[in-house]
Amino acid sequence: MVYSYPKMLKVLKGEKISPPPIWLMRQAGRYLPEYRTLRQKCPDFLEFCFTPDLAVEATLQPLRRYDLDAAILFSDILVVPYALGQKVEFHEGKGPQLSPLRSRNDISNLDLDSFLEILLPVFESIRRLRTVLPTEKALIGFAGAPWTIFAYMVEGNTSRTFSQAVRFFYHSPDDARYLMDFICEATERYLCAQIEAGVQVIQLFDSWAGVVPYPLLEDAVYAPVRRLLRFLQHKFPHIPVICFPKGIGEKLPLYLQTTGATALSIDYHVDLSLLLPQIPSHIILQGALDPQVLVVGGKTLEQEISRLKKSLAGHPYIFNLGHGIVPETPHEHVTQLIHILHHQE
Ligand code: CP3
Repeated sequence: MVYSYPKMLKVLKGEKISPPPIWLMRQAGRYLPEYRTLRQKCPDFLEFCFTPDLAVEATLQPLRRYDLDAAILFSDILVVPYALGQKVEFHEGKGPQLSPLRSRNDISNLDLDSFLEILLPVFESIRRLRTVLPTEKALIGFAGAPWTIFAYMVEGNTSRTFSQAVRFFYHSPDDARYLMDFICEATERYLCAQIEAGVQVIQLFDSWAGVVPYPLLEDAVYAPVRRLLRFLQHKFPHIPVICFPKGIGEKLPLYLQTTGATALSIDYHVDLSLLLPQIPSHIILQGALDPQVLVVGGKTLEQEISRLKKSLAGHPYIFNLGHGIVPETPHEHVTQLIHILHHQE
């Protein structure tokens, strides 16, 4: 077999490739009919994630249909609180429900001792994926960034503002920092084990970075991400990490400086003409197609692909959405997207 190095990894080493490699956040999921069929085999979502036969199949489904450059492990960021002993449930239409942590006592019930053991099926899925994925496809592992995990653990559910989590940080800063440290420690162990099992890239999802008020940014977002990046850089210097601080907008240049991130996934609210002059050209960028443009398709999709390719040509660039694919997306539009990306002048 001819070994071909994944395009995505070349870009993450600083190479500019045209057309850019592509993968899509939430590329596996409900917009795919074959995913909906597979999900019926296991109605409990966490059990689905922890069953290697199913998780491996869900990871591979989008690559069977589309010429994507990477697979992202099928799992969820909330397996971390679950494996720490918190109650985590997924109910159709309601999003995740956790038993919220609101006191030092709640926090002290969390348990790191059996953490990695509970996550063993995830590492088994990664090992299997590496044996079946073609060598030109990169395998992406991931975790929630500490603030986003903290936000779900304290709030107990998805929220527009995560106000309970924000208030907890203000009124009990010592407990909040203690919980943050605990989450950082767990995330370090989790990512180490993913890398040892075979993932080649890490994406850190900070989906709720945008709700953090200015006075808390250093403690809630920058410091924990800086810690994780230093840890990974020291232990696995060959593994690139892509950071996705969704919603922090004009603070992206500061985020890069304060965390030391070198690869950034950007959302679709960012005005690239304002942002890019402030970003050093060696920084690797990913994103930022609005998922609603993929729902709409057609000419709008063509124009947006062209705009993004042109604006981001000065950086090593990986094509992606600015957030996950939404379930209403016609799956034919993903075929269109890849065709346009590969054939457009
Ligand atoms: O294809 C992939 O992207 C890989 C798998 C993946 C999932 N979740 C599967 C999933 C990844 C990388 C995630 C990350 C994740 N999970 C994030 C960060 C990215 C983002 O979207 O901001 C967050 C915040 C979560 C938490 C989460 N999981 C929520 C809020 C929900 C409910 C909302 C929804 O879309 O249903 C989930 C459930 C979830 N995670 C589903 C999938 C495919 C839907 C479950 C189903 O009904 O089958």
